[in-house]
Amino acid sequence: MIFYFTGTGNTGFIASQLAQATGDRLIPIAQAVVNGDYDYTLEADERIGFCFPIHGWRPPFIVRDFIGRLRLQGYQGQYCYAIATCGDDVGLTFDYLRNDLKAIGLALDSAFSVIMPETYNFPFIDQIDTPERAERKIAAARQELAKMVPAVVNRERGVMNINRSRWPRTNSIVLGGFFLKHWVTDSKFTVDADACVRCGKCSQVCPVGNIDCPDGGTPRWLHNGLCTTCFACYHHCPAHAIDFAGRTKGKRQYYFKP
Ligand SMILES: Cc1cc2nc3c(=O)[nH]c(=O)nc-3n(C[C@H](O)[C@H](O)[C@H](O)COP(=O)(O)O)c2cc1C
Ligand code: SF4
Ligand code: SF4
Repeated sequence: MIFYFTGTGNTGFIASQLAQATGDRLIPIAQAVVNGDYDYTLEADERIGFCFPIHGWRPPFIVRDFIGRLRLQGYQGQYCYAIATCGDDVGLTFDYLRNDLKAIGLALDSAFSVIMPETYNFPFIDQIDTPERAERKIAAARQELAKMVPAVVNRERGVMNINRSRWPRTNSIVLGGFFLKHWVTDSKFTVDADACVRCGKCSQVCPVGNIDCPDGGTPRWLHNGLCTTCFACYHHCPAHAIDFAGRTKGKRQYYFKP
């Protein structure tokens, strides 16, 4: 089974490619959390995968919360791996993950990171990749995937193929902690009612059902406590009507197109 979380589709692409290659079932974490599904049974020869994007040099909080509540029957040391997609680097992400898994009795056997187009729209800088750079990253990610898939298929243990970063402790502990406390919030999203074409796309793509978009109306964030600031709503808006912290107007948009 492959537990995965994706906001803008990068990780969804990687997870679905793996599912195709392995035949393993895909389980979307966001949907599981929304539905309160935490009980799963593992077959004797089944792999366990965790795929997610990096958020603030850590696994997204929704992934960590899910793992904390996960009740997995039938685990007897089956192969367990994780793949994180990132814009640049992962810091201590896999140390956090390893500890979270250990707390529920699972051992992480192998970990991989894959650089994909950046999706975080940091309010003060132009962070989203140009279309050309995004394309180059995707082409390189496809090559990485071609190496990663056989490792997962063959259940290779002890692989740590990760792009850790230069100052992993500063990134994950200091900056990541600050980021999680102050910037992972839906309270900074606003919509330009004049620009909004009332298509409902933002509501459809939100992985955690946090946006209500009534027929013919503008979107309303529900503040359901599950917003990961994945930016799917922002990136998918065809009218570029969604803003974050009053700073993202006119900035680039991106989401993975298969
Ligand atoms: C809230 C947020 C925080 C992010 N933090 C990092 C980070 O610390 N390091 C990094 O390399 N990329 C970071 N990124 C980029 C994503 O990890 C990357 O674009 C990922 O592939 C997005 O996956 P998705 O399309 O499946 O959501 C961040 C993106 C978001 C939305
Ligand atoms: S409200 Fe927007 S940023 Fe928050 S989880 Fe939904 S799509 Fe992602
Ligand atoms: S995606 Fe954009 S245009 Fe469509 S309803 Fe949402 S804010 Fe309005």
